[in-house]
Amino acid sequence: MRRYILTGTDTPFANLGTGGIRAPGKGEITVDVKAASLNYRDLLVAKNVSGSVPLSDGAGVVSAIGEGVNGVGVGDRVVIGFMPGWTEGAITEARKNASLGGNGVDGVLAERIVVPATGVVKIPDTMSFEEAATLPCAGVTAWSALFERRPLEPGETVLLLGTGGVSIFALQLAKKAGARVIITSSSDAKLERARSLGADETVNYRQTPDWEKEVLRLTDGVGADFAVDVAGPATLSKTLAATRFDGRISLMGVLTGFDGPINTAAILERRITLQGIYVGPVATLAKLVKANLKPQVDKVFDFEDANSAYADLRDAGHFGKLVVKVGS
Ligand SMILES: NC(=O)c1ccc[n+]([C@@H]2O[C@H](COP(=O)([O-])OP(=O)(O)OC[C@H]3O[C@@H](n4cnc5c(N)ncnc54)[C@H](OP(=O)(O)O)[C@@H]3O)[C@@H](O)[C@H]2O)c1
Repeated sequence: MRRYILTGTDTPFANLGTGGIRAPGKGEITVDVKAASLNYRDLLVAKNVSGSVPLSDGAGVVSAIGEGVNGVGVGDRVVIGFMPGWTEGAITEARKNASLGGNGVDGVLAERIVVPATGVVKIPDTMSFEEAATLPCAGVTAWSALFERRPLEPGETVLLLGTGGVSIFALQLAKKAGARVIITSSSDAKLERARSLGADETVNYRQTPDWEKEVLRLTDGVGADFAVDVAGPATLSKTLAATRFDGRISLMGVLTGFDGPINTAAILERRITLQGIYVGPVATLAKLVKANLKPQVDKVFDFEDANSAYADLRDAGHFGKLVVKVGS
């Protein structure tokens, strides 16, 4: 089978070659991968990892099953969980370390992968492999961010930063949940696209560097009920300022780095619930498949052109998701 192997550099990010694949063991299945999507994480992995198959998010067709597999059969169309070993319940260090396409664990940018049968979710015929492949990381993360603890309520206002994979899923989910959405972007063209998906208010964070003040203006000085911060240290203090007393912030992003100063007094004095998010279990992926969203696939690349998908992700011109067709 053909598969990419990470080089540990960005010239190229990964090399296409061939390799073998083992038969599925007890409780495992082989999936013939048909599409894979990229996440910002894949750029971080590519910088630090070499020698393994990249990308966490894939969808395809079951081509073989191991002993004792129930509920999934050959020919089923499936999407694979980001952490196939985390089916439900709480996350553990071991489950986190077994996420696909990182930490030396082989990922889905290959024609075949062997995974636990309980780590996949069947997809309806109406959902393309390209659409399904966008769900495991960005989609599940957006769901966990909005609905896991102190969930977003209808009529509440949610603030979303940028128009990448997580934020656009959060926009779609928030609108479906009956919330009002304020979204920021560096691009007016992308904000226009966000409006077409239902965004109620838009702010260009390049043209309006004090965007938190604009969010306050748009919320009559109160602040958003809920915020999803995908950017991290450079935005969190502004996100705090833009969130109401007793509001909630889901933080999962490292777009602006891993460490930085935070206004801790703002968290306690205004009784903000600040929660860290790390994707979510296969059970959440199943809920997302049922929600029947139309994932925003910005561009689809041929398998042989996967390095161009990486380059596009790095250049951040995309809206929503970038996808690679896998196989011929
Ligand atoms: N912890 C987890 O479970 C988890 C899961 C998924 C993702 N993440 C993290 O969440 C972040 C987003 O991931 P993704 O895959 O959705 O990324 P992505 O698709 O690459 O999104 C990139 C977009 O983010 C926006 N952005 C960049 N810098 C920004 C800033 N300073 N302020 C506001 N927006 C900014 C830009 O939008 P515009 O072009 O519109 O300006 C950019 O195009 C990453 O840091 C990723 O590592 C974490």
